[in-house]
Parts: sequence; structure tokens; C-alpha cells
Amino acid sequence: MINHPHPPDTPPQRLTASLFGPDFLWGTVLAAAQNEGAWNSYGKGASIWDNFARRQGKIKGADKPTVACDFYHRYKDDLLLAKALGFKVFRFSISWPRILPEGTGRVNKEGIAFYHRLIDECLKLGLVPYVTLYHWDLPAALEKEGGWTSHLMIRWFSRYVTLCAEEYGGKVKDWIVLNEPFGFTTLGYMLGRHAPGKTGLSNWLPAIHNAALAQAEGGRILRKIVAGAHIGTSFSCSEVMPHTDSPEDQQAAKRLDILLNRLFIEPTLGNGFPREDFRLLEKLELHNKSWKYTERMQFDFDFIGIQNYFPVVVRYNPLIPIVQASEVKARNRKVPCTAMGWEINADSFYRILKRFSLYEGVKEIIVTEGGAAFKDERVNGAVSDPQRIDYFRDYLLAMLRARDEGANITGYFAWTLMDNFEWAEGYKARFGLIYVDFKTQLRTIKDSGYWFRDFLSGH
Ligand code: GAL
Repeated sequence: MINHPHPPDTPPQRLTASLFGPDFLWGTVLAAAQNEGAWNSYGKGASIWDNFARRQGKIKGADKPTVACDFYHRYKDDLLLAKALGFKVFRFSISWPRILPEGTGRVNKEGIAFYHRLIDECLKLGLVPYVTLYHWDLPAALEKEGGWTSHLMIRWFSRYVTLCAEEYGGKVKDWIVLNEPFGFTTLGYMLGRHAPGKTGLSNWLPAIHNAALAQAEGGRILRKIVAGAHIGTSFSCSEVMPHTDSPEDQQAAKRLDILLNRLFIEPTLGNGFPREDFRLLEKLELHNKSWKYTERMQFDFDFIGIQNYFPVVVRYNPLIPIVQASEVKARNRKVPCTAMGWEINADSFYRILKRFSLYEGVKEIIVTEGGAAFKDERVNGAVSDPQRIDYFRDYLLAMLRARDEGANITGYFAWTLMDNFEWAEGYKARFGLIYVDFKTQLRTIKDSGYWFRDFLSGH
């Protein structure tokens, strides 16, 4: 069993990056809104997260992304750390309101220059930049006009992608158009737990429709402008298991599976929304008036980014609108879990990788995020996090198994280089390989960071 890779009487398996071959891409990731800080400096406009964080009760501890890890000023040192740990890829996102403060129209030259410096520094250090175009920090000015619910989104997003492609396309070949469209549309426009805090079907359905269109359109723009581009987009996914064998629980699991795992990849691959199995999604037809949308939601991505943080167990619950399903929390199931209460299950990760690799049209998979939060503490200048080491070891072994069985997985990017602003969870949820003291900005490499370094170097 993959969760216990070395039974007591056999020596532990030596796991090193070389098992994945010399071309496998090992990276680490961060995101503008979670790391940069400098939220209203150097010409940057406000993002929906800057505004959301100011609303009472939205973020744990009333934390705000105003300074975060101060990556805007410390990026050179942080890139050196990524390099020292042995990573080859550095994935980061561009803050849309930093380069277009009003979302469209006027360009902020200082913002443009910042990403040139960041990219140049990556290249100087031999780190391959993977650039995410949208990691959830929509310009607040566009939210005023409806944000992702507006049909104008395609126009705004096209303008933004064109600007990024023209500016940086000469140096950046690897692009990720959207980060987790299901995550930001559902948490932000249906459940109200993330920025901009909207709720209800009348927001959610148009947001889904516009995100699916923008994603494909972004891909087309990059293809046109950036010679030799390697273009992907990143999906969240979670294996969904019924709590019991009852037909009600199984149907509930199937409904949730459609939302969590199929809603965005299927239109991307040209199959339209998976509405035949879920009557509610027929409403997307309202926004999807003709065949031309199905066609426009398709784009031939070079790679699909997979981000799997936990499996989900569900039972039928008629009181829950839309899905009529509720989650049976990992903590109540007494399974191993992270500080977020997310089940740790490397076998499930293995199955997810196999499943996505079997989709017709998926050419290449990169695990564009993977990681776990634990209650880390800095004691005597060090951070001991054996659970995170176990987590990575088990998940990387699971990935190796999927790959050896034929899944075309070409890279793994660890979430995240350093502890950062974890959205509605604030600064308490620590996912980093590097510990950050948010009062002093002192960075301390965790034991898991050293473990990764040794894994990557083969020591
Ligand atoms: C992902 C998200 C990241 C990070 C991570 C851990 O969904 O893309 O920004 O927050 O989850 O929760």
C-alpha cells in the first residue's frame, strides 16, 4: 500500500528524482496575491482579494494580503532559495491589476517592469519561468462591472493576455492560462467564501461560462503571439467516493464528481459541459446558445495542469441545494489528514492521475501544484515537519507508479516555496517548504525543504 511504502522488515525504498528521468520538470510555485505584497504601491490597482480582505469576517484572523511575503522586494533572495533547493522550474503568477490597474486600458509601466526583472532573474539563475496568467486576483475595477459574471470578461481577459504575451513572450515559453477555474468560480461566485464573495446560481453559471470561454481564448492568443509556446491550464480535481453503497449516495457522488472533475476539462477538450448527467447544468445552455460556444470553449492545450489536494467522501443530503450531497469530513472518518482537515491519500492521487491521463486529447500532464499544510513551528532556528516529508514521499511514489504505468506526467511543482497568504485561511495555514515569520520576514528552510533538496540532487 502506497501510504506505507516500506513495511518494517524491508529497507526503505530510496526515492530520488533520478527515478523520474533527466527531463522530468521539478518546480516550485507561488502566486502574486499570496506572496507579493506591495498591494497598493508602484502603481498597482486593487484586486478583488485586497477588497475582500477588508470585509469583516471574511478572512481568518482578519489577515490581509497587503504585505504577504514581501516577494515584490525580496524576489531575488527567494529565487536564490528556490535554486538552492535544486528546483528547475519556477511557477509564479502575474497580478493583472499590477500591470493594468483598472483591468483594461491604461498600462502600469512599473508593473510591467517588475515582471521583466523577475523573469530575467529566473533566466539568469537557470530557473524556467512558468507563468500563470490568472491566479484569482481580478482587478477590483472589473469586479465593479460584474467580474467573471460579465460577458465583457472575454474582451477584458483577451486584452490582458495579449499584453502579457507581447511583453514577455520573447522570454517566457511556458504558460498556464487559468488556475483552478472551478475553485475561483465556485468559491468566489457561488459559495461566497472567496473573493469577490458573491453567491447564487445567477452569478455562478455565467462565471463558469465566461471562465471556460476565457480559458480557451487565452490559449489561442498565446498560440498566435508567442512563437514556440508550451501552453497549459490548471484544474483542481478530487476523487469523489460515496459514503455507502446505497444508490442515493452513489448518485450524490456522481453529481459532485461532475462538478469537481469534469466541469471544465470537458469543454476544454471540445465536449461541451457535461450536462447530460446533471440536469442543473442544462441551465448553462442558456448561456451556451449555439454550437459555436462549444467550439470556442475548446483549445488544444499542450499540457493539462493537475492539482489534487484531497479526495472527498459524500452522502446524499436532500437539504443541500443543487448537488444534494454533503461531505463526510475526513476528521470524522478518522483518516490521516493535514492541518486543513484534508485527507492524505496517495492512492487516490494515483487514481486521479491515471484518470486524467486517459482523457482523449490530454497530451501531457504536469502536476502544477501539490503539497500540504501542517502546524509548523520554528524551534531553535529549525522547523521539523516530518509529516510533510512523508506526504511528499508517498505522493511522489504514487506519481511514479502512475507514470511507470504509462501516464504521460512530465513534471511536478511543489506547492509552495514558502508559507504565504492562504486565501480565506489567512497566514495560519502553512504550506511552504520554507517557513516565513510574517513579523520579521525571516525565512527558515523546513526539514521538508532539505528533504526536497536531497531528493532532487540524489543524495
Ligand atoms: C490551490 C490554490 C493555491 C493554494 C493551494 C493550497 O487551490 O491554487 O493558491 O492556495 O490551493 O490551498
